[in-house]
Amino acid sequence: MLSIENLHAYYGLSHVLQGVSLTIGEGEAVSLLGRNGAGKTTTLLALMGYLRPRPGKIEFRGRDISRLPPYRVSRLGVGFVPQERGVFPSLTVRENLTVAARGGARAPWTLKDVYKLFPRLEERRDNRGNQLSGGEQQMLAIARALLLNPRLLVLDEPSEGLAPLIVEQNVKVAFDVADRHYILAKGAVAFEGATADIRSNDQLVKQYLGV
Ligand SMILES: Nc1ncnc2c1ncn2[C@@H]1O[C@H](COP(=O)(O)OP(=O)(O)OP(=O)(O)O)[C@@H](O)[C@H]1O
Ligand SMILES: [Mg+2]
Repeated sequence: MLSIENLHAYYGLSHVLQGVSLTIGEGEAVSLLGRNGAGKTTTLLALMGYLRPRPGKIEFRGRDISRLPPYRVSRLGVGFVPQERGVFPSLTVRENLTVAARGGARAPWTLKDVYKLFPRLEERRDNRGNQLSGGEQQMLAIARALLLNPRLLVLDEPSEGLAPLIVEQNVKVAFDVADRHYILAKGAVAFEGATADIRSNDQLVKQYLGV
């Protein structure tokens, strides 16, 4: 479904991504791991069209999306929950959700579904975005992305605020949720493998994940 090939990216003169390649198949859950500053967020920003690959190729469902702006990547069915979440502070929970909802024939996610997934959001539906805890904001950002009914959901630090803020926890969540993992180090893929391959490799975990 998604293929990223030899992705390079810069902030000014700083060459941050140095040839990231990865694939995600239909129905697969894949995680991107790595220490602070390894290039995880930058890879996601390039995928979403916020940063231009220089060079690099990004294909989504057979279509080259490397030069598309974010709103067009989103419209093709890539949902994004950014690290800073992007909740509208002056809108209520319900307004944050309904402003995003995109119904239509293939709309498996409704307001009712996301309230069922996150009952806390229904209880807080009349609170404004700036009257929510960090974890509630994270739920709201995920719920809003689901209401766009994406084919691919991209989450940056999804367990932040939902689970204790320690690296070990985040890695555990990734192991529980994803089938396959890419470990980034210094802007390139240092390791790729299934959960069992990483879990059983103490050296790898120590060297790249700092756990
Ligand atoms: N706007 C920016 N301008 C310049 N350098 C940046 C900018 N954003 C990130 N960087 C640098 O790019 C590198 C990769 O950062 P990135 O945010 O992709 O890392 P990350 O893997 O998401 O880290 P974290 O786990 O801390 O979120 C780091 O060296 C970082 O300092
Ligand atoms: Mg990051």
